[in-house]
Amino acid sequence: MTTQLASRRYLVDIDSISAQQLFTDCLVIGTGIAGLRAAIETAEHRNVIIVCKGKVKDSNTFKAQGGIASVLDEADTFESHIADTLKTGCGICDEDVVDLVVRQGPELIEQLLGWDTEFDLAGSRVATTLEGGHSHPRVAHAHGDETGRIIAEALIRKVRQNSNIRILEDFYSIDLLTNHENKCMGVIGWDNQRGPQVIWAAKTILATGGVGRLYRETTNPEGATADGIAMAYRAGAVMQDLEFVQFHPTTLYIAGATRALITETLRGEGAVLLNNKGRQFMKDYHEAAELAPRDVVSRAILDQMRKSESTHVHLDVRHFDKAYFAKRFPWINELLGSFDIDIGKDLVPVRPSAHYMIGGVKTDNSARTSIDNLYACGEIASTGLHGANRLGSNSLLEGLVFGKIAGQAVSKSTKATAAHLKHPLIKYQIAPSDRTRLDADDVRNSLRALMWRNVGITRSDQPLSEAQEIIRFWQRYVMDKVFDSPEGWECQNMLTASLLITQSAQKRQESRGVHFRRDFPDTDNEHFKKHIELTR
Ligand code: SIN
Repeated sequence: MTTQLASRRYLVDIDSISAQQLFTDCLVIGTGIAGLRAAIETAEHRNVIIVCKGKVKDSNTFKAQGGIASVLDEADTFESHIADTLKTGCGICDEDVVDLVVRQGPELIEQLLGWDTEFDLAGSRVATTLEGGHSHPRVAHAHGDETGRIIAEALIRKVRQNSNIRILEDFYSIDLLTNHENKCMGVIGWDNQRGPQVIWAAKTILATGGVGRLYRETTNPEGATADGIAMAYRAGAVMQDLEFVQFHPTTLYIAGATRALITETLRGEGAVLLNNKGRQFMKDYHEAAELAPRDVVSRAILDQMRKSESTHVHLDVRHFDKAYFAKRFPWINELLGSFDIDIGKDLVPVRPSAHYMIGGVKTDNSARTSIDNLYACGEIASTGLHGANRLGSNSLLEGLVFGKIAGQAVSKSTKATAAHLKHPLIKYQIAPSDRTRLDADDVRNSLRALMWRNVGITRSDQPLSEAQEIIRFWQRYVMDKVFDSPEGWECQNMLTASLLITQSAQKRQESRGVHFRRDFPDTDNEHFKKHIELTR
C-alpha cells in the first residue's frame, strides 16, 4: 500500500559551494545506542563523523531504565525469546529479522561487558528480570534502573577513544542531500558555532531516534521531534508502519513533574496497579494482569480513568522492602523522594504516555533504506523486528544489533570512502514567504495536544480526518517559511511526521498491537496482515 504525497524537498536554501564543507567516509546522525554502535563498527575500516543536535548524552537510550532483553540464562532459549517477540508483534514481525536479532544478543552483550559496561550481576552471570510478554526473566539491567545511561557511557567512552571517529555536538541535521540519481550524499546542517555546514559523506547512517515529542504526554527527551522521519521522507525514503506508536502504561503523573518513566520491571517484580477506589483492576482485562502486553495495560488504564473521571491510576509498591527498592530502582527512588512520595506508605500516580515509534524508515536485513548510500538503525528504522507491538526491552537490543550491522555494511562496501565522493553542486532556493508572523512554540504545543487527543492510544476515523485537516491548515503557513534555527525546523518536521502518522493510522482499518481503532476493534488478517508504506 503506497501513497504519494508532495512537499518541499529541502527546508532551507542551499548553496553547496559557499557553505562550509566537511568530508567523511561515513556520517552517523544520532548518538543513541544504535548510532554509537554503528560508529564503532564503521570505524574499524573507515573514518566517521558522528553528529547530534544536542550533547552526546541527549538520547532516549540514556534515559532507558528497564533494560536490554536477551537470552542470558541457561534455562532460557532463543526459541522462547523468538516466540515471545512474534506473539507480541501480532502477526506482522519479519521472522528472519527476529531470528537474527535474538541470536546476536548474548554475544553483543558479552562484548558490552568487555567494554566495561557494569551490568548488575547475580553471582558470576548477568542478572535478569521479567517484563510483560516475556515468558522468562531475560531483561538485563545495569545500576538498577539506569541501564541506558550505563550502556551509553560505555559506548561513548569507546567512541571517544577511537581516532577514526570525530564527534560534532550541537549540530542540527536539517536535510539529507541527494544527487540527481537520488543517491544520498550527506547532509546540510546547522553547527551552533559555525552556522550552515555541508557534510559530504560516502555513506550516511540515520540513527536519530524517536518521535515522542509529537505527543503532549511522553517519556521522551526534548530532542525526540521526529527529525529523521521527516528528513528521510523529504529525501524520498519509504516509510513503514508509522501508525504503530507504543504508549508506555506507567509514567509519573504529578502536576509540574516531567512525565518520567516508571519502569515496567517494577511490575515485573510485583508492583500492582490500583484504580482510584484502591481496587486492583488488571485481571478484569487480561489473564497476565500487570504483565499483559503494554497496549493492553495502557488501554485498561485509560478505561479506568474514563470510568472514574480521573487523571491517573496508581502503582502500588508499598510491599517492597525499602532498602531493596532504593538499591534496585535508585533513579525512581530519588525521583519519588523529591516529590515527597514515601514508597512505604504512598501510592505512585501514573498514566500512559507516548514512548516508542515502532515504525519508521524501512530497512532491509543489512540496515539499507530504499535510498542508495543511506542506512538506518535504532528507533528511526523499521526493520520488522517489532511487528505491531514491541516486546519490552527489545529496543536496546535492536539498536545494538542493527548498529553493528549498519556499521559492517558500510565498512565492507567498496568505494565507501570520501576519496570516491563525486558530489554535485546543489543550489536550491525557496521563494520568500509573505506570511511573517508565527509563534512556532504555540504551533508545537497545539500539535502535541492534537496528536494526544486525536491520534493517541485509541483512534477512529473522524478524529483522524479532523487531525489531518488541522495539520494541513497549520502546514500552509509553517511549511512555506525558511527558518534559521532548530526550533523552526523541528516544528516543520513535527508537522510532517504527524501528518504521516495520522495518515497511516487512518489507512489501517483494523486493530492490531498498539494500533487500536474504536471503529474497527477487530484484527482483520484478510486485508491488513501486512505493512503500510508511505512515500513522497
Ligand atoms: C521500561 O523500563 O519500562 C521501558 C523499557 C522499554 O521500553 O523497553
